[in-house]
Amino acid sequence: MIDPYLSDWLNLLARWFHIVVGAGWIGTSFYFNWLNNNIRPPKVDTGEGVKGEVWSVHGGGFYQVRKFQVSPGQLPETLHWFKYEAYFTWISGICLLTIVYYLGADRFLLDPSVSDISAGAGIGLGVGTLVVGWLVYDMMCRSPLHKQPVAFTVVGFLLTTAVAYGLSQFLSPRAAYIHVGALLGTCMALNVFFVIIPGQREMVDAMEAGKEPDPDGGRRGALRSLHNNYMTLPVLFIMVSNHYPITFGHEHAWAVLAAIALLGAGVRHWFNLRGKGKKNVWILPVAAVGIVSLAVVSAPEPIELPAEAVAFAEVHTIITQRCTPCHAQQPTHPSVVAPPKDVVLETPEEIARHASAIKTQSVDTRMMPLGNLTNMKDSERAVIAAWVEAGAKVDH
Ligand code: HEC
Repeated sequence: MIDPYLSDWLNLLARWFHIVVGAGWIGTSFYFNWLNNNIRPPKVDTGEGVKGEVWSVHGGGFYQVRKFQVSPGQLPETLHWFKYEAYFTWISGICLLTIVYYLGADRFLLDPSVSDISAGAGIGLGVGTLVVGWLVYDMMCRSPLHKQPVAFTVVGFLLTTAVAYGLSQFLSPRAAYIHVGALLGTCMALNVFFVIIPGQREMVDAMEAGKEPDPDGGRRGALRSLHNNYMTLPVLFIMVSNHYPITFGHEHAWAVLAAIALLGAGVRHWFNLRGKGKKNVWILPVAAVGIVSLAVVSAPEPIELPAEAVAFAEVHTIITQRCTPCHAQQPTHPSVVAPPKDVVLETPEEIARHASAIKTQSVDTRMMPLGNLTNMKDSERAVIAAWVEAGAKVDH
């Protein structure tokens, strides 16, 4: 196993980098989307082939952007491409996936209460999902299905949900989530690498050779761009939800994921419609009602509590055995070097202060103890629940 201190630093650096380049990628993608929605035909046709233009003001300067469809008559000296944001987001994402889930397989990738596959099998399943998932998606885009957006969306959605369900039978719930996110992210990045950029390259090459560019390359790229556009919000949700066990900790976490993906893509659709100047009054209210219903439906079920009142001493013993190996000023568990998330559960006061988080983590979502590495029993979870429900009192 990799040294936990080193692993934490690598984790932090990869995450930082991932967020920075990801923000760059999504920022440019939102910006170009906005441009396409706001570009209007020029008032005066200069005969240069300008299809649309837009004026904006930002940071103390005025900008005029002009769009040429399919191409400007002549290539400028410097043409800016947008691709490294996508590539680096993907590469850093894969690094992060490896650091957190593959090097820390026993803690984050696997969950003995889900299945007892080996770390190797879990990693194979994760990587296999990304590879096969991309191949299937790419095939769908090349098949006649792509001409039917509704059918394509339904099939894509069902397949993604099936992947979430399948993974949740073998991997920890959190790992199942992140792999669905990684699969969508992989499709987005490979769309850029294999289709969008080569299509643009063909157009540029044709122009350099003095030929009229084949609009087909541009059209294929536009389809993938549209898919990327719809995938952005669900992917961001999945990445952030990784820090919220209320989502992936649910018994049918894959269904929660499917619902959120649908809502996220729906909201994106509303933005796209609005951008085209089409009014839609029902998508946002439906999405809002949907999210509230989801929160209600997926709320943790009350568990059966022990009949008699629980003494704090009993809680203290359980926490000391099951949690404090990691959650201590000086953890004794080999997988951590410092108390995770700065949660220290040693003194009665510390335990009382974190009472509700303790219940969320160890009872409602069962995310703690991590990978159940300290073998916490269900009866012990019930004791914790009873103590917190009764007001989390510390008697001396
Ligand atoms: C094997 C080590 C380990 C054990 C044992 C363990 N934890 Fe944790 N705990 C972690 C790690 C690692 C994290 C940070 C997880 C992350 O990065 O999201 C964490 C996070 C937490 C958090 C903060 C969650 C958040 O996102 O803010 C709480 C609360 C918590 N644990 C409670 C407990 C309780 C209660 C127990 C015992 C029932 C327990 N832990 C046992 C390793 C452990």
